[in-house]
Amino acid sequence: MADETEKTEGFEIGPLSERDLEEVMQIERASFVAPWSPGMFRQDLNFPLARCLAARRQDAGEKRLAGYIICWFVADEVHITNIAVRKDLRNRGVAGRLVGEALRMARECGMQTCTLEVRRSNKAARGLYRKLGFTPRGIRPRYYSDNNEDAVIMGLDL
Ligand SMILES: CC(C)(COP(=O)(O)OP(=O)(O)OC[C@H]1O[C@@H](n2cnc3c(N)ncnc32)[C@H](O)[C@@H]1OP(=O)(O)O)[C@@H](O)C(=O)NCCC(=O)NCCS
Repeated sequence: MADETEKTEGFEIGPLSERDLEEVMQIERASFVAPWSPGMFRQDLNFPLARCLAARRQDAGEKRLAGYIICWFVADEVHITNIAVRKDLRNRGVAGRLVGEALRMARECGMQTCTLEVRRSNKAARGLYRKLGFTPRGIRPRYYSDNNEDAVIMGLDL
């Protein structure tokens, strides 16, 4: 198996901006049964406690969005509120890079823990978080209103 740096070669991580919104919405709608609206992204892009990162890749002479992560830095806890990667660019380590950069920023700011909610059935995301060292911390019963699915709370001490 290729090592992580080789696997994600060609992708760069940087700030997400309103200029990315069209591509964000394409990825978001293809990734979730209950996607965020453009207004929700705009709100977080302008919210001082939110950190919004993009993964980009050069594609036919243009930088194209490969994925994004949104986190809230509140007191000493980082909460990951959204993460998605373009379908045809999954399994190349892009999400790992995005979470890794968010955790690096969190440690730099003296944050103590990182938490998130994930659908019980979301094998890819649960596998990603487990690989990065997150452990299950609890269940929010029927958290997702579209199908009453439970959320697993996962956490990582920084
Ligand atoms: C979850 C998601 C962000 C992962 O993105 P990705 O860029 O493909 O993830 P990575 O390539 O960084 O994967 C890292 C690890 O996650 C796990 N993983 C990724 N996809 C997986 C899958 N389909 N099944 C099981 N584990 C998987 C593996 O442990 C993988 O490490 P490995 O490649 O060494 O085996 C992506 O599948 C996605 O956008 N899903 C839709 C949106 C979503 O569910 N977001 C999470 C909400 S909580």
